[in-house]
Amino acid sequence: MHVILLGPPGAGKGTQAVSIAEKAGIPHISTGDMFRTALKHGTPLGLEAKKYMDAGELVPDDVVVAMVRERIQKPDCAKGFLLDGFPRTIVQAEKLDEMLVQAGLTIDRVLNLECSAATVLKRLTGRRVCKACGAIFHVTNMPSKQAGVCDACNGVLYQRDDDKEDTILNRLEVYNRQTAGLIDHYRRRALLTDINADVPREETLAQMMVLIRA
Ligand code: AP5
Ligand code: MG
Repeated sequence: MHVILLGPPGAGKGTQAVSIAEKAGIPHISTGDMFRTALKHGTPLGLEAKKYMDAGELVPDDVVVAMVRERIQKPDCAKGFLLDGFPRTIVQAEKLDEMLVQAGLTIDRVLNLECSAATVLKRLTGRRVCKACGAIFHVTNMPSKQAGVCDACNGVLYQRDDDKEDTILNRLEVYNRQTAGLIDHYRRRALLTDINADVPREETLAQMMVLIRA
């Protein structure tokens, strides 16, 4: 099963991907998480990506594509994968197709998480992420049991550098300009289903699991 999650920043891709990956038994591949991990380790890739991420701009296609190409060749992807945050441009979508064709594989589903800009802004300004394990919380929607501490691993929760209001607004602009075109791209190929992500997360997950199990 090869699934792509599309949707604006804050729609809940990362939150839902963790549950879907666990239920479907496939790895969750988040390009944003990969860049943040690289940055945590101070690698050249992480430092290069930071310049773009801090501004809410996209990392150049060739950098992202090379990283994904390497990742999907790992043994845990033999049963499939769930892509979160990739592809994000038409060039990335075309490169993904090339990679899959070379491996004799196809995309099974593209799930398009729809969410209003007002909801996204509230979700992103209140998001907290665990520094150690990456678990996602929200100060009011999904608070941790103890403020500032991860329920899963007791790690410290922090606010992502790109979750400042100005950067969020630019990320939304970049999404509309560079990524939203992928909705029609995949709809034309009859791969895409719209998902209401402006509802409690269990409802969004249920909509998606029906499709993934079909
Ligand atoms: P990335 O990390 O992918 O960020 P993003 O797309 O902006 O998406 P987010 O992670 O902000 O949102 P999400 O949809 O995952 O929401 P979440 O589940 O956390 O990318 C970051 C940067 O990396 C990019 O700007 C770019 O620079 C670079 N990059 C990454 N991939 C790239 C690519 N392919 N090409 C080029 N550059 C790339 O939820 C948000 C909050 O809402 C949380 O607090 C959560 O608890 C809460 N929440 C979630 N669902 C619900 C719900 N149903 N109800 C109430 N609250 C909810
Ligand atoms: Mg995310």
